[in-house]
Amino acid sequence: MALTELIKGLLPDKYRGMEREEMEARVREIKKELGTSLFIPGHHYQKDEVIQFADAIGDSLQLAQVSAANQQAEHIVFCGVHFMAETADILTGPGQTVYLPDMRAGCSMADMADIYQTERAWTALQKLFGDTILPLTYVNSTAAIKAFTGRNGGSCVTSSNAKSMVEWAFTEKERILFLPDQHLGRNTAFDIGVPLENMAVWNPITNQLEYEGNLEKIQVILWKGHCSVHENFTVANIEELRRSRPDMAIIVHPECRREVVELADDNGSTKYIIDTIEKAEAGSAWAIGTEMNLVKRIIAQHPDKEIVSLNPNMCPCLTMNRIDLPHLLWSLETIMDGNAGNIIQVDSETAAQAKLSLDRMLLRAN
Ligand code: 13P
Ligand code: SF4
Repeated sequence: MALTELIKGLLPDKYRGMEREEMEARVREIKKELGTSLFIPGHHYQKDEVIQFADAIGDSLQLAQVSAANQQAEHIVFCGVHFMAETADILTGPGQTVYLPDMRAGCSMADMADIYQTERAWTALQKLFGDTILPLTYVNSTAAIKAFTGRNGGSCVTSSNAKSMVEWAFTEKERILFLPDQHLGRNTAFDIGVPLENMAVWNPITNQLEYEGNLEKIQVILWKGHCSVHENFTVANIEELRRSRPDMAIIVHPECRREVVELADDNGSTKYIIDTIEKAEAGSAWAIGTEMNLVKRIIAQHPDKEIVSLNPNMCPCLTMNRIDLPHLLWSLETIMDGNAGNIIQVDSETAAQAKLSLDRMLLRAN
């Protein structure tokens, strides 16, 4: 990358010296000026300083739905991570541009499955199992992986519809390949009755299937990827909490490991966790196993309940956190100046195939 391009992609110094109030006032001003030609979707894991300006707040599924529904905003400034902005670009129309305020806001889980590894795995798996596998990908994946599932008859899933999508997949084929999160895949398949011994793991580094037993029994092939945030909730955290606070209910996201989900009282998507706490009785006590910006917000919104993070040393998702107020303001000011960068644009062939995969999910959402 040329030095000028590199510098263009970095936050200019002037934003580092600005006071928060000044930045907030300027964002408000720009939002007013641009009106409905600007749309800011924000994922629940974003910081408060950013989420306060979101026009729609949601989990991955809700943000995909609102992006698809909004066909009038010319500028979509996506406060989330790279794969979510790609999804928005795929689902919006030709006159709409999607921006990611900081291009470094990626997702380590999505990076765990690249298209070369995936094509290589697919060839090997077709040799082993023939045409018996349907590929499903968590939306936390690159557009190229979504396109791979689209052109092979498969679909995207999110944590809030994974169960119904896995059930649907088994009506299409005998086996599924689930990318890139082994934990969501395992927890979901187990929930619908697939025994753990019928699940194999595909290791993209060694290019091998990790499984002991009769290959014919395999129903689910789990890509060996994970979320580096949710993997930080451990069995030790649950044991410690059960010892110190046996009265607390534990609820975790299904991106957590199987052992953790099994020991928790409940598990579900970001939206499910939010709704469960919302409905809980005043005075109830909860330990939550999910991203920290969201847990802090839930704590602030429910002063009538006692809520803690399941892991007391938990940090927010670092890549989600790269979208901060200075980057949001910078993105908006470059739009105002007609000099916008950080545009997310998926090439048309990839986008068309990825859309097949997203549409199959959106058709059956929830
Ligand atoms: P959901 O929004 O689907 O719950 O996914 C959580 C997540 O990790 C987003 O990056
Ligand atoms: Fe990716 Fe996990 Fe962060 Fe979500 S929380 S963006 S899955 S690393």
